[in-house]
Amino acid sequence: MYDLAIIGGGPGGYVAAERAGALGLSVVLFERKELGGVCLNEGCIPTKTLLYSAKVYNYALHGDKYGVSVDGAAFDYGKIVERKNKVVRKLVGGVKAAMKAGKVEVVKAEAYIAGRGAEGITVQADGKDFVARNLLVCTGSEAAVPPFPGLKEAGDRIVTNREILSLTERPEEIVVIGGGVIGMEFASFFNSLGTKVTVVEMLPKILGPLDDEISAMLQAIYAKKGVVFNLSCKVTGIEGDCVVYEDPQGQVCKVRGDKILVSVGRRANISGFGLENLGVDMLLNRGGKPCGIKVDEKMRTNIPGVYAAGDVTGFSMLAHTASREGEVAVNNIAGKPDRMRYDAIPGVVYTNPEVAGVGLTEADAKQKGIDYTVIKLPMAYSGRFVAENEGGEGICKILVGKKYHEVLGVHLLGNPCSEMIHGACIAIEQEMTVEQLKEVVFPHPTVSEILKETAFTLK
Ligand code: NAI
Repeated sequence: MYDLAIIGGGPGGYVAAERAGALGLSVVLFERKELGGVCLNEGCIPTKTLLYSAKVYNYALHGDKYGVSVDGAAFDYGKIVERKNKVVRKLVGGVKAAMKAGKVEVVKAEAYIAGRGAEGITVQADGKDFVARNLLVCTGSEAAVPPFPGLKEAGDRIVTNREILSLTERPEEIVVIGGGVIGMEFASFFNSLGTKVTVVEMLPKILGPLDDEISAMLQAIYAKKGVVFNLSCKVTGIEGDCVVYEDPQGQVCKVRGDKILVSVGRRANISGFGLENLGVDMLLNRGGKPCGIKVDEKMRTNIPGVYAAGDVTGFSMLAHTASREGEVAVNNIAGKPDRMRYDAIPGVVYTNPEVAGVGLTEADAKQKGIDYTVIKLPMAYSGRFVAENEGGEGICKILVGKKYHEVLGVHLLGNPCSEMIHGACIAIEQEMTVEQLKEVVFPHPTVSEILKETAFTLK
């Protein structure tokens, strides 16, 4: 009998296992593929490794801006991919070591929930029964691939975030269906390596939930670098090597790609592992179909002892949300009060320049009827930004509550905002006011000082 059985070894599952092990719970974790899940094996980490190679190549190509010229700057696509594989192997090894340190029993097999009885919840895997007092479901998500006509016939020309990581050579032309996070990160990567990139997006903007002004700025930066954006264009099918879409005037258009990346969102993994044997309540989409496991703020489902965390809840679909949700579930299982809060979940897009945001956007504030003021400054107000981003553009925007001056949202464009946004997360999580932010001493010279400079513009 285990205290906790966890299905899925991604950032939801393995972090939960680590924390539970540290609290002295006996844990069994089931993973059918590699520990680390999508994030470590085919998401966050491999993409950031590829993007870093692209960044280094770009520094070499454009170093003359900084007085450094590199003759014959070139890349070896095979080596870029091999380094990515090496980084992934190393980090998967790290997760294995963490499981061992936490005395977590890892079962590398497909798990199936057989049911719940008086003695606990039974999970079957590798021909054996495992009984646990609690179950945490962290089965993640997979790329949603709509049944576009002609998709099957297009064969391996069609790729998702998974297959695109293992290409052996750089495509000359790529079409990206969906200008969301995955679409824009791969658009950035291939654009940096000289591939002709076309993004076809059905919304009138890229990165839908992002601040409108920052979305437009990022689009303009990439348009200048040569990425073609077809916005308000809905993809309707694939014809041979072309993506077929309807433009805003209703005209049918086509664009060719050696590869076609489908990045139109992800779907929670909710079937095929016996969830129905527990009678867990599901979240329903607009069409009334199940799209995630329904949980409360303690990550509990409607079934006692059964919890869920990560993409399978169909909610935030971010690795860092999954990890925190896993921690909340474990704390509640261990009897430590904890609840999940979603007000300060950061979102980062690792384009070059990066984008990062946390809290409310103007659109959110308007929708919620919140009275707000926007204060903003160009990143060029930071000396460090100017020193390190020759000709670079960027902006810092802070949404402030009109009455109490509380920080409602922070939205940044410019490198390295992915490394700065946590400061804003703390401000929002701790319900800080702009006046309190002004009193914080920031290290000088850093790009993060832009947060403080912007705070001082509040009239
Ligand atoms: P997404 O939801 O970010 O973007 C999908 C886009 O596809 C949307 O803009 C949508 O309007 C568009 N679309 C849908 N159907 C279309 C059609 N028929 N024609 C044209 N456009 C269409 O989804 P994405 O990029 O696939 O990412 C999946 C998940 O992975 C997201 O939840 C994201 O948060 C997460 N992720 C996070 C990353 C990060 O934090 N840096 C990196 C990569 C993924």
